[in-house]
Amino acid sequence: MEKVTVNFTLNGDHESITVNPNLTLLEVIRDVFGLTGTKEGCGHGECGACTVLLNGKAVNSCLVLISQVEGKEVTTIEGLSRDGSLDPLQASFIETGAIQCGYCTPGMILSAKSLLLKNGNPSDEEIKTAISGNLCRCTGYAKIIKAIKLAARNGKTKDAGGES
Ligand code: FES
Ligand code: FES
Repeated sequence: MEKVTVNFTLNGDHESITVNPNLTLLEVIRDVFGLTGTKEGCGHGECGACTVLLNGKAVNSCLVLISQVEGKEVTTIEGLSRDGSLDPLQASFIETGAIQCGYCTPGMILSAKSLLLKNGNPSDEEIKTAISGNLCRCTGYAKIIKAIKLAARNGKTKDAGGES
């Protein structure tokens, strides 16, 4: 099969790759770029372990073909922390103990990030809807919801208080 060249932004860096057009975004992230924070669970859109942000919106990267990413911005869990500082969601997941085995965590955090980018003060129901495509076998979800609410509060404090 003829290869295609795809230009996109990955965690803030412009990238240009020439690959088989049948590769999924998940395969490119893990196998071409070696970013293994994005997990493969089911491989067909049911578990959310592979969730990344595509132009700020949470998507299952196992269902996105690399050619669909042309000109877009991709953010993986590795791109959330900046200059050694954790994203408020990463910090709140640690603080509330919302991580057990951790397999679902990167995808869960990126689904939550997508929500908080458009709604800084979500209700429990809105949080449940946002993470409804992300399966967790360990936590029972209560601590995850608590973590997302805490991150929303911390994000607001940060904006209002002008902390660096
Ligand atoms: S690996 Fe993509 S949804 Fe399960
Ligand atoms: S913490 Fe283990 S699957 Fe969620």
